[in-house]
Amino acid sequence: MSTLPRSVVIKGTGSYTPANIKTNDDLAEFVDTSEEWIFTRTGIKERRFATEGENTSHMGTEASRRALANAGIQTSAVDLVIVATITPDMPFPSTACLIQTQLGVSNAVCMDIEAACSGFLYIMEVAASMIKTGRYQNALIVGTEKLSSILDWEDRTTCVLFGDGAGAAVLGPSDSPQTGLLDFKLGADGANGEVLFMPGGGSANPATGTSIDNRLHFLKMRGKEVFKLAVKVMEQAAKEILEQNGLNSDQLACVIPHQANLRIIELLSSRLEIPMDRFYLNLEKYGNTSAASIPIALDEAFRDGRINSGDLVLLVAFGAGLTWGATLVRCP
Ligand code: COA
Repeated sequence: MSTLPRSVVIKGTGSYTPANIKTNDDLAEFVDTSEEWIFTRTGIKERRFATEGENTSHMGTEASRRALANAGIQTSAVDLVIVATITPDMPFPSTACLIQTQLGVSNAVCMDIEAACSGFLYIMEVAASMIKTGRYQNALIVGTEKLSSILDWEDRTTCVLFGDGAGAAVLGPSDSPQTGLLDFKLGADGANGEVLFMPGGGSANPATGTSIDNRLHFLKMRGKEVFKLAVKVMEQAAKEILEQNGLNSDQLACVIPHQANLRIIELLSSRLEIPMDRFYLNLEKYGNTSAASIPIALDEAFRDGRINSGDLVLLVAFGAGLTWGATLVRCP
């Protein structure tokens, strides 16, 4: 008889957002924008920015600590750490290795995976697949971002949208079928990479005086194109994952979408014919935190009692790459 796990479950979640809150009015003091413009176009009211000396790894470590406490798992039992981020502390070593040391999870295999705002759903499938081999028992998956480090304060179309933070989950094997992470639907389209990217800092454009003068080390985005693609790919991923599992949207207790823009989520709600009150929203407080967005929302949805035992939950995201993903979760 096989000893392989029958399913992979979420054992605990945690999140951390920095104490430094900046409202839309605060931004309007140094950016040519207004509270009204930001709120009506995006639904964002405020965001958090890391404080001096607070890095992506520090936020990820704190979220991880909370997730492990929530799961009741000792640090010595963690055997896998996977981090999703587009703002690692440095190109190498990986942020996962930095978190390993800060957290003291010395028995873990550690790596980063980069899939931008879809990153958490990507690492969820990678970790779940590794657990299903039977070789890993307690995987810590972390989405953590310090987007304030790559925002161009001279580009008002992007700098008002993003914030910093981290979310984490502990995954482990279970013998109960039809519970936990039921299915994944990931996708990518590299041909649309230049709608959202950061050209500088890698081997194509290493840091030089010219790269800095040309502002290559900041996030660049073609907002309208991203908006349309986001709605299209999230709708497609959500419909496909429901269909391939013989489910319909009425069976979903909650949808946790990537928290980028309320208008995108409203359009998704109407295309999927799922009422807005079944979407979990916290973007008003944090803006877009990229790979941290889904795990922060997941953690808050558990804590707010929006997700309960037996609930069927859909996680759905899109991001630079392009990348996208949908995950179906049945809460144990
Ligand atoms: N404050 C005030 N005015 C602003 C502004 C700001 N922060 N940013 C842009 N504007 C102005 C523009 O200059 C333009 O002015 P003009 O008409 O005089 O030229 C006007 O607002 C409209 O700009 P536009 O870029 O057409 O706005 P939009 O309706 O497309 O909304 C976004 C912009 C960014 C909110 C929207 O495109 C969007 O949300 N896209 C998706 C972004 C996203 O989610 N990215 C993350 C992916 S993971």
